[in-house]
Amino acid sequence: MAVQERTQVGIIGAGPAGLLLARLLKLHDIDSVIVEARTRDYVEARVRAGVLEQGTVGLLEEAGVAERLHRDGLVHDGVEIAGNGRRLRIDFRELTGKTVTVYGQTEVTRDLIAARLAGDGPIVWEAADVKIHDIESDRPRLGYRVAGVERELVCDFIAGCDGFHGVSRPSLPTSLGQTFERTYLFGWLGILADVPPCSDELIYASHPRGFALASMRSPTRSRYYIQCALDEKIEDWPDERLWDELKLRLGSDTAPDVTTGPAIEKSIAPLRSFVSTPMQHGRLFLAGDAAHIVPPTGAKGLNLAASDVHYLCRALAAHYATGNDDLLRAYSVTALARVWKAERFSWWMTMLLHRLHPEASFEAQMQRAELDYLASSRAAQTVLAENYVGLPF
Ligand code: PHB
Repeated sequence: MAVQERTQVGIIGAGPAGLLLARLLKLHDIDSVIVEARTRDYVEARVRAGVLEQGTVGLLEEAGVAERLHRDGLVHDGVEIAGNGRRLRIDFRELTGKTVTVYGQTEVTRDLIAARLAGDGPIVWEAADVKIHDIESDRPRLGYRVAGVERELVCDFIAGCDGFHGVSRPSLPTSLGQTFERTYLFGWLGILADVPPCSDELIYASHPRGFALASMRSPTRSRYYIQCALDEKIEDWPDERLWDELKLRLGSDTAPDVTTGPAIEKSIAPLRSFVSTPMQHGRLFLAGDAAHIVPPTGAKGLNLAASDVHYLCRALAAHYATGNDDLLRAYSVTALARVWKAERFSWWMTMLLHRLHPEASFEAQMQRAELDYLASSRAAQTVLAENYVGLPF
């Protein structure tokens, strides 16, 4: 017999989605248990994105975990788009009245874990063979094994926050849903280095040799990416080659400001757009990468996870406070309306800035014309700005 426990919301995954959901639920006096397949060290070390929308910062404030974020996060009033031989600044504050904050997802995760473990409730690390049962009943269950012992968690609801490769999405009946997917024929090669950033703001660069992005984590830590082919290997890119290519693509204006140094992390990631609908069935609700993936070009992944969690928490809070399940029933429709717009923006930024076609093609001319239009139209810049800082939720 498995050891049985009981909670209100069983949460699969101790990434930002699961941790933020647990924290917000606690503020509504709703108990949860977080079940995570990996170790704490692994979860706290993985390098992910770094740009938070103002709405995401607001949620982290509401969750009471924004102290370090406000101390160490960098508020950015705009970004630069480099292409067609010039650098164009998109002024978020002027165009939308809003800003974004550069603060690594790794740090968000650490802050949320610290808050959780300070008394909110358990995180079960290294849970093996997580299985979801009876989601069509009002007592769904999570089965898993820890240190060789079989356990069972009896829940009112289950939140699947376990990412693209997790067990939650495959636990939804496939016959009822649909998936939408777009893969891209290139990836991003990322490098993290303890050197000062080359600019105060992020630079997204479109270059005939391929896309490049200059980002940062702090005044002394830089994060850069370049577009690469999917069959390229990390070994093909010793630090020196990567820095040279990056400088070339960022352009001769920017290259002299790039400080090089040894990589403390280097990785290649494919780009993907993916949406699985609906995001709920019975008493299982998906949030974040478990339900959808965006290419990183718009910096939307973590922010979408945060807005999903906001909608889900609000719906669960209404259930426990009033017994009204209208918001729970509407969760998927509500969340997807925002997801699809972020998918559109991320796909658009990706298609605008990457090298996709031969220089002499019609499509390459369309990219040039679009960049030129962006440079000349305040309306076009406003569209970019209001999507980048985040649509309302
Ligand atoms: C990052 O800093 O890792 C980053 C920033 C902006 C993006 C993607 C990644 O669009």
